[in-house]
Amino acid sequence: MNINEAISSIGVVPVIKLNHPERDAAPLAKALCAGGVPVAEVTFRAVGAATAIRLMAEACPDMLVGAGTVLTTAQVDEALAAGAKFIVTPGLDPEIVKYCQSKNLPIFPGCTTPTDYHTAYKLGLEVLKFFPAEQSGGLAKIKAMSAPFPMFKVMPTGGISLKNLAEYIKAPVICACGGSYMVTADLIDNNKWDEITELCKKSVEIVKEARSNG
Ligand code: 3PG
Repeated sequence: MNINEAISSIGVVPVIKLNHPERDAAPLAKALCAGGVPVAEVTFRAVGAATAIRLMAEACPDMLVGAGTVLTTAQVDEALAAGAKFIVTPGLDPEIVKYCQSKNLPIFPGCTTPTDYHTAYKLGLEVLKFFPAEQSGGLAKIKAMSAPFPMFKVMPTGGISLKNLAEYIKAPVICACGGSYMVTADLIDNNKWDEITELCKKSVEIVKEARSNG
């Protein structure tokens, strides 16, 4: 199974910002895996993102730990050295895309417009992050974009929660949904690992049910 298939089979991607990676990265990784969500996008919005990636990957070696909010090729290098298995960028930067491709590192750039999609097509991409999803037109826009660009699978992020997860994930164009609802600052800073596991389990159930009712 390649990374795209693995992420798609899980169906949700927690978007993580860790303020205290030494303390929280390992228990968080274990909580996500216990909930059936062995994947994470660890954002470079927090200093120490690379440390968080390394500690999560060490705690759960089978987990797909990727880097998010990557803005430079230097951050790609940092993420890769820490063990990141994929890169997510908030926008579409051909330089970063090509850099990741040269290293065979899967990259999911944020795209929301026909121009973004067209550029992504020329770059040979297959899976795009659609960010910020709700604020950019949500599922209706994603479906409209699929008409001229049926070749892409999309990973929407931004404004997704347990309330709208089913609606998104049952659309065939969606391969997985990203979100921070199961890894909020409150949950992490107060070490509510069991709650995180429960939210992951609920998410996985929603994904399964929505897909089976397709
Ligand atoms: C992201 O970076 O992908 C989003 O900020 C996550 O959005 P959410 O907090 O609305 O889930």
